[in-house]
Amino acid sequence: MIKILTVIGARPQIIKAAALSRAIRNKFSDKINEIIVHTGQHYDENMSNVFFDELQIPKPNYNLNVGSSGHARQTAQMIVGIEEILLKEKPDFIILYGDTNSTLAGAVAAAKIHIPVIHIEAGLRSFNKKMPEEINRITCDHASTLLFSPTKTGFNNLVREGFAINNKPPFTIDNPQIYHCGDVMYDNSLYFSEITESRSDIINKLNLKKNKFILGTIHRNNNTDDQIRLNAIFSALNKISSKDKIITVLPLHPRTSKLLKKNLSKKLYQEIFKNPYIKIIQPVSFLDMIALEKNAKIVMTDSGGVQKEAYFFEKPCIIMRSETEWKEIVENKTAIVADADEQKIIDSYHHFIKKDKLNFPRIFGDGKAAEFICGEIIK
Ligand code: UD1
Ligand code: UDP
Repeated sequence: MIKILTVIGARPQIIKAAALSRAIRNKFSDKINEIIVHTGQHYDENMSNVFFDELQIPKPNYNLNVGSSGHARQTAQMIVGIEEILLKEKPDFIILYGDTNSTLAGAVAAAKIHIPVIHIEAGLRSFNKKMPEEINRITCDHASTLLFSPTKTGFNNLVREGFAINNKPPFTIDNPQIYHCGDVMYDNSLYFSEITESRSDIINKLNLKKNKFILGTIHRNNNTDDQIRLNAIFSALNKISSKDKIITVLPLHPRTSKLLKKNLSKKLYQEIFKNPYIKIIQPVSFLDMIALEKNAKIVMTDSGGVQKEAYFFEKPCIIMRSETEWKEIVENKTAIVADADEQKIIDSYHHFIKKDKLNFPRIFGDGKAAEFICGEIIK
């Protein structure tokens, strides 16, 4: 039996972990024993607990309850906690997802005591080292033994950074193996898409009409913390929704909710809350989120995961960031990088509203990335 220790902490990691836990439960339960450590980076009911039952993820064996703080304190507390658990559990591997502080902490803690790191979502780069996530993902990749990239672009980034494509086993931190294996988030979207039909009522509850609303999410720190950027984004959403009379649903991350009043101009803040076409709601469950994505006319986001899910459900996406790690979706002309540029966001909306034929080639695998990863772990 192989013992793996999975570290999760932020919302998207909890969701990604569901795919691997499902593959283990269905096909590898006699070969892989999974221990789950929740760092507590996200802790609100609707940012963490809501996902466990809904996505059938086993309850974490440990919760470090680190909560929110600055990068250094938060990451340091996680490193201490994860190291203690690694020394006690002695797993064969640690599994890390994505690019959050929980990812970085897991990589540093494990690599220093020679526990091999498996990085899922390896190789993604924004080429913007001002993003905390870029530092986290580069560090994690370079401390990893098995690196699973969801896209060809991610795989090529690793090769460009010096990872060899023809290393021979046994794989180690100094002789790592890189893979292009598809996206565990795509596995999840396929798996839960049908379940959502019978289990989510959010479209009725919010009184929405299919293909007649915008879905937006905003949480990236350089948008929420920068008054100019946040005002530009909300001003664009305000203008689009009131001019076109199109409902804009915004399940807001708590980071953004807490900063709206402080960082929006008083005038815009009042307009947003008076605008009958803007619906600001609490973060929603994953099944509700999928229902919103499947039924939206267009998605506007600065989220990494939501950009991709828009693509999985064949919806155009306006990316409210200056760059994206998912450059395939821009190259396929189904997404536009509009940054926090008010006019560009409005123009991109009009571009997509007029365009009805978009192509969404299948570039995120076959929905079986998690099974592939389990197979390689066993090998
Ligand atoms: C983190 C990740 C980011 C990821 C995002 C997913 C890092 C550096 N960033 O950003 O890559 O895209 O998660 O959602 O790891 N808060 C709450 N309740 C919660 C969680 C957070 O109120 O349950 C608030 C707190 O005020 C906190 C703020 O949100 O200070 C930011 O949380 P944090 O986890 O530090 O970063 P995120 O912006 O969520
Ligand atoms: N998500 C969700 N409820 C919400 C907003 C997002 O379940 O209210 C899901 C979304 O479907 C995706 C993931 O959270 O699977 C993306 O996480 P987030 O945007 O927080 O982080 P990022 O992907 O940018 O790291």
